[in-house]
Amino acid sequence: MPLIKLYFIPALQLLLLTIAQVSQSVPTDSCVIHAQMLLKNVTHALTQITLFSAIDCPEQSVELNVKTNTPSVCAPKGSICSGITKSEFDQISCMRNISEDLHHYYTFLAAQPDPDSLLTPTVLSLRELMEKCFECSLPTDLASAEAAADRLSTYDERLRLCKVLKGFQLRSITINRGIAYMNSTGLIFDIKMVC
Ligand SMILES: *[C@@H]1O[C@H](CO)[C@@H](O)[C@H](O)[C@H]1NC(C)=O
Ligand SMILES: *[C@@H]1O[C@H](CO)[C@@H](O)[C@H](O)[C@H]1NC(C)=O
Ligand SMILES: *[C@@H]1O[C@H](CO)[C@@H](O)[C@H](O)[C@H]1NC(C)=O
Repeated sequence: MPLIKLYFIPALQLLLLTIAQVSQSVPTDSCVIHAQMLLKNVTHALTQITLFSAIDCPEQSVELNVKTNTPSVCAPKGSICSGITKSEFDQISCMRNISEDLHHYYTFLAAQPDPDSLLTPTVLSLRELMEKCFECSLPTDLASAEAAADRLSTYDERLRLCKVLKGFQLRSITINRGIAYMNSTGLIFDIKMVC
């Protein structure tokens, strides 16, 4: 009997600890704040002209991530999207689409040559949003990314970076709206469970 007790108590403590960690959700506003920070950092990166040398970035077209439908999936219930009033808000799809966007941009940006670390704040705040608000594993095969980081970028790389960052800025606005909407409806409490 004492032996059973010895084994039982640590197991129970572990269980209680796990429950405590799960129910101790992130402060309601922190994902909203992390998303705002990300948008600020992306916007700031776009002002770093050395990232785009020899390229007139404001004149370039925007390259969006077409693998996700975040703008329509995360549009609030009752909003009008392409002339159709949205009658449902599917939180899980919205979360998954946002999470997919974050992965996409993380993988892309971490692999960019960036000898002056001008993209680092964006990559870090992206990472923070992923880790704090979405329980997603970060892409692990970043060894080649680190090798890329120190060399100078080519013209084509800078051109692509400009277009992708412009798209990411737009997508960050959409992500901000989606997260703020989920926060305002209280849905954000479940935010870590769906990824
Ligand atoms: C998030 O929602 C909570 C209550 O639901 C609210 O108190 C808080 O101000 C919201 N945070 C932001 C940044 O809007
Ligand atoms: C994005 O949302 C759509 C619903 O429009 C859903 O079918 C799709 O699975 C979502 N993407 C991911 C990665 O979950
Ligand atoms: C992102 O930008 C904010 C405000 O401009 C800055 O305080 C913060 O340090 C940046 N984030 C990171 C991870 O560097």
